[in-house]
Amino acid sequence: MREIVSVLLLVLLVLASSDAHVTKPNAEKFLRCLRYRTSRVNPINEALYTHDNSTFVSSYVSYAKNKRFSNPNDTKLVAIVAAKHESHVQATVVCAKSNRIQIRIRSGGHDYEGLSYISSVPFVILDMHDLRSITIDVSRKQAWVDAGATMGELYTKIAEASKTLAFPAGVCPTLGAGGHISGGGYGNLMRKYGISVDHVVDARVVDANGKILTGATLGADLLWAIRGGGGASFGVIVSWKINLVDVPKTLTVFKVNKTLEQGATDVLYKWQLVSSKLPQELFLRAMPQLVIGAVPSQKSVAVRFYAQFLGSARRLMAIMNKSLPELGIKREDCYEMSWINTTLFWQNYPVGTPISVLLDRPSNPAGALFKSKSDYVKKPIPKEVMEKIWKIMLNFNNMFMQWNPYGGVMDKIPADATAFPHRKGNLFKIQYFALWGDANATNANLGLMKEIYNLMEPYVSSNPRAAFLNYRDIDVGSNPSGVTNVEEAKIYGEKYFLGNLKRLMEIKAKYDPKNFFRYEQSIPPVRVM
Ligand SMILES: Cc1cc2nc3c(=O)[nH]c(=O)nc-3n(C[C@H](O)[C@H](O)[C@H](O)COP(=O)(O)OP(=O)(O)OC[C@H]3O[C@@H](n4cnc5c(N)ncnc54)[C@H](O)[C@@H]3O)c2cc1C
Ligand SMILES: *[C@@H]1O[C@H](CO)[C@@H](O)[C@H](O)[C@H]1NC(C)=O
Ligand SMILES: *[C@@H]1O[C@H](CO)[C@@H](O)[C@H](O)[C@H]1NC(C)=O
Ligand SMILES: *[C@@H]1O[C@H](CO)[C@@H](O)[C@H](O)[C@H]1NC(C)=O
Ligand SMILES: *[C@@H]1O[C@H](CO)[C@@H](O)[C@H](O)[C@H]1NC(C)=O
Ligand SMILES: *[C@@H]1O[C@H](CO)[C@@H](O)[C@H](O)[C@H]1NC(C)=O
Ligand SMILES: *[C@@H]1O[C@H](CO)[C@@H](O)[C@H](O)[C@H]1NC(C)=O
Repeated sequence: MREIVSVLLLVLLVLASSDAHVTKPNAEKFLRCLRYRTSRVNPINEALYTHDNSTFVSSYVSYAKNKRFSNPNDTKLVAIVAAKHESHVQATVVCAKSNRIQIRIRSGGHDYEGLSYISSVPFVILDMHDLRSITIDVSRKQAWVDAGATMGELYTKIAEASKTLAFPAGVCPTLGAGGHISGGGYGNLMRKYGISVDHVVDARVVDANGKILTGATLGADLLWAIRGGGGASFGVIVSWKINLVDVPKTLTVFKVNKTLEQGATDVLYKWQLVSSKLPQELFLRAMPQLVIGAVPSQKSVAVRFYAQFLGSARRLMAIMNKSLPELGIKREDCYEMSWINTTLFWQNYPVGTPISVLLDRPSNPAGALFKSKSDYVKKPIPKEVMEKIWKIMLNFNNMFMQWNPYGGVMDKIPADATAFPHRKGNLFKIQYFALWGDANATNANLGLMKEIYNLMEPYVSSNPRAAFLNYRDIDVGSNPSGVTNVEEAKIYGEKYFLGNLKRLMEIKAKYDPKNFFRYEQSIPPVRVM
């Protein structure tokens, strides 16, 4: 009898706990907690959006860059806290945790899989876009940049302060400092200066207890982890302290096309052999892309070459003439300009566009749906495989690839210097990118992306097939929103972090042992003895 009672009790307990699990976490209590934990000096009201607010939807969509995932009617979304003060960040963490609500941290909202604004368990979006101050110290060549600042804002502030300083980061000016830098942050200064995380020296981080860690209180291990390990597994990054790098007053850029008829395949093959060995002042990106002709049936493929050179047109011409004469660069193709102007050139703004466009925050994202994947390449891709790539590309309506050359300092920075591991031994990194405007086309596009990714498997990195965290790809492994299965986490973790995964899991176990900061591709807290 006693045994039956205890079995019954056990059953009841299990039911009770699973019941507690499915019960809607208390949204009302969360909102009350937020008000209680914030002061009248920095009221939370102006930062708080619930479904009742008329501006809720615009607040949601303005930073949901991939329309595939944008869903402002999501009933799991309890509220958006668009923090206006550090204390709002702290309160959101503490109150979400105590009310068993997950948080999704969003800075620029560029996450390819929407993981900064979607969840299938009750959640709140902690939106950082209003925390965007930037202070530059020219004499120390340093800056503090808040998580919600965009790269365009950072580039502008740097250029206002100095014509010969820069920061190595991505090309798109709307990228948010919070996600972009914590995921690595690479751009066209990569071969000379490495990536963003190579220049991060301090940060302000709100941890799982709502405490602010910075300077002496921010452990060296935690700083290491958020430099490439992704911020969202460890805490909320409020601000970064970065070192700036020297650039000449005048740089040189060009972009030229080669069609298949003009021998693009041969030139691109040769590019594979030389692009990682060029002087590190030169970054020469190749972009195979689908070109739509006058009629839809006239699709073709062209390869676009973009150069960024830290020097004069005359020197660039000499290098191109020696190393890749097949590209046929002429002096008229080359434009000399300041570093800040090169950021416009790379975004394809016409010459003469005012620099102020770098400050734009388009509130209605173009409305595209997209999918991206990545690969690291260690040996040249044979020409016949390139021809097969072009064949698949022709089946898309809008698709391009970026082949980003490695070498330079990327070969010299040790793989464990930061949490970002993809360094020596890569010829280049590929990004595959497809976009479309009609949700009905999603399955066809995802299918074609899989086809191209399968085709490439024998020719790219393996064991594991490496992937770039900033090019988030849910296909490399994922967990459900509220759960972290360690075995599954190791699958995507190894691809993103290679040999650094073990240390990342230990740091996670030290700073967030209860795994509050979890999401579909977060790092699990695991102590490896
Ligand atoms: C058009 C476009 C161009 C791109 N170009 C480049 C490029 O040139 N180079 C490159 O490296 N990448 C590039 N990317 C990828 C980009 O770096 C990543 O999408 C990056 O994560 C974006 O950061 P975000 O803050 O804008 O995005 P979000 O979607 O806000 O965040 C991305 C991830 O970081 C987390 N996160 C955001 N803010 C914080 C914070 N404050 N604290 C902790 N975690 C946080 C989020 O929770 C999420 O997991 C590009 C993406 C797009 C859409
Ligand atoms: C949202 O609505 C609440 C309740 O009316 C209000 O207190 C709050 O200020 C509103 N939020 C914003 C950002 O306007
Ligand atoms: C959200 O719901 C509103 C009101 O029900 C509706 O008008 C709107 O189209 C919905 N938006 C989306 C993206 O589903
Ligand atoms: C190169 O190709 C792109 C994309 O197809 C096109 O927009 C651009 O005009 C072309 N440039 C030149 C110089 O042909
Ligand atoms: C390129 O090199 C050839 C010989 O190698 C030389 O004749 C030519 O003038 C060079 N052109 C430029 C633009 O440097
Ligand atoms: C940079 O671009 C601006 C705006 O187009 C232009 O006025 C300026 O002359 C350019 N400067 C340099 C050095 O390229
Ligand atoms: C998408 O598919 C749905 C259902 O098949 C159809 O009703 C709708 O018209 C389609 N939309 C477009 C833009 O083709």
